[in-house]
Amino acid sequence: MKMSLLAGSHREDRALRAVCAAALLAVALLLPQVLSASDSEDASLIETGNRLAALLRAGRNVVSTNQARINQTGVGDKELSAVAFVIEVMHAYETQNGQPALTEEMSPLDEKLVKAQLDSMVEVLDDAQPLINNPDLGFKGFIPAVFARLVNEKFATKVGHLARIKVTAPRNLVRNRSALPDAWETEIINGRLLSPDWPRGQPWYETVEANGRARFRMIIPEYYSRSCLTCHGEPKGEVDATGFPREGGKLGDLGSAISITLSK
Ligand code: HEC
Repeated sequence: MKMSLLAGSHREDRALRAVCAAALLAVALLLPQVLSASDSEDASLIETGNRLAALLRAGRNVVSTNQARINQTGVGDKELSAVAFVIEVMHAYETQNGQPALTEEMSPLDEKLVKAQLDSMVEVLDDAQPLINNPDLGFKGFIPAVFARLVNEKFATKVGHLARIKVTAPRNLVRNRSALPDAWETEIINGRLLSPDWPRGQPWYETVEANGRARFRMIIPEYYSRSCLTCHGEPKGEVDATGFPREGGKLGDLGSAISITLSK
């Protein structure tokens, strides 16, 4: 009885050990692959998100460097056609990032997204020609933030569920309702980006579930520079050139967050 019990438990023990060993082996062999597969997927999504943000920034910068020209009175044709503008954006992107926005090696998805973004910029500049070339109007409200919003709206209609780019901000700073942070953005902005020990400039990203779909979400903080404060700075409440009350922001405050959503 004792023997058989022992023998029995021995057999079970061996069987159990064999199963465990096999399972461990499977985990050891498979897990790194599973992890590296999702890691490399995330790495490429991060790269895609960073590229879209960088291209949007390049576009805003070109609006900014041409702001005086855009605002000029007494001159009709500002010679800032959509094509001239986008060529300048491509140059700015390459200078700032060390490589062109469009390359031979990029995936079909990345190529589609970048082209959609550039096409959106072309359309926004085309639409804005009558405004930009109006000789009687000085300040026209065609500023980087407006340009970015219009580009992101066009981009959304071109790429559907594949990607979305939005410029948002801490809720109390938002001027345009369409830029209000959603629940996830609010949580990340308040809980992370605004926390005093958040590393400056560090993006946050994670995969979230929305309507039964896995979405990769990424948010990149931006801070007020001196040039922002003419409108977003002090004195708080005093109306700026665009007709909005100033937010009372200070140099270096978190003033903006580029939020990017990508399909997984
Ligand atoms: C000439 C005034 C002016 C300057 C300078 C300016 N902004 Fe704005 N900003 C605006 C206006 C007006 C809007 C609302 C645009 C719209 O209609 O969507 C806006 C919108 C924004 C938004 C989108 C969220 C929202 O409030 O609707 C962010 C983020 C933002 N600005 C950050 C900045 C930062 C950062 C800088 C400096 C790099 C800056 N702004 C410079 C006037 C300005």
